[in-house]
Amino acid sequence: MASRILGRLPLDEDRLAQDMARLAQAPAPQEPYEVFTIGRWVNLNLWNASGDDGDGFFNGHRQVAGRPTRLLGGVPYIGELLTTWFNTELLTMVRARNVVEWSIVPHRDFLESGPAEDFFRVLVFLEDNEHALNSDEDMVFHMRKGEVWFLDSAQIHAGVNISSRSRWSLCLDFKAGAGFSPGDVFARAGDYDPAIRPALVERAPAPADLPDRLRALSAVVSRHNIKDIAFLLGKVHFTEEVPIGASWDWLVEITRASGDPALLDLAERARRFFVHSREVYEEFSFVPA
Ligand SMILES: [Fe+2]
Repeated sequence: MASRILGRLPLDEDRLAQDMARLAQAPAPQEPYEVFTIGRWVNLNLWNASGDDGDGFFNGHRQVAGRPTRLLGGVPYIGELLTTWFNTELLTMVRARNVVEWSIVPHRDFLESGPAEDFFRVLVFLEDNEHALNSDEDMVFHMRKGEVWFLDSAQIHAGVNISSRSRWSLCLDFKAGAGFSPGDVFARAGDYDPAIRPALVERAPAPADLPDRLRALSAVVSRHNIKDIAFLLGKVHFTEEVPIGASWDWLVEITRASGDPALLDLAERARRFFVHSREVYEEFSFVPA
């Protein structure tokens, strides 16, 4: 199931602006998934398993019911959107997210949590920013303000905001599994509207020699820059028609060509962690402790 639009929220601009101003003032809690990103990446926990707004851990492996955190009480319009529009019986987690001068590397979610069919991740963007894009294995797309998107995060996916302007969104996680259908995320069945066309992004055909040219990075790759190179490679598919997962294969090839077995090992471990397999609580880092 590819990423797609499920519906659209009509947003009250004034009430939303008040809530977003409050979110912008909120202190950022500890971020458990920082290794996936570079740049500014703030997740404010509005709804989760513990009810603690300092708890940003996705408890998919336990699939416990979600509940509001204290922080949600400070953003009454967003709270109203959640309870009016969405099926809170199935809602396990909500994060208000801002990303600035940011990217997230190509990765799969839920690898550590259980079968992907048990989870359903939805994004709602609270502001437009033409410099912010998302991608999956099929396409690159721009999520517009108010659109309710299913993000197929069991596929390899990525995101960028190449601007210095904020990009607030809500990330909603629902319990899925047997008998679940996408319209179930809504509180009112009539709000499910899969006919809205997405804003897709045209990409340039990739030059045939692109992998060879990228392999030249083997002359400079080191422990000082392997993370930068991984994130650089992870952004190529936003502008060139190449498979999103190719970036990890390129990193492995580049490190192999460098002749440094420690770098090759790091690249192979990164590829496994981000797109193939992960354990609950497993940590990975490109840099030494
Ligand atoms: Fe993800």
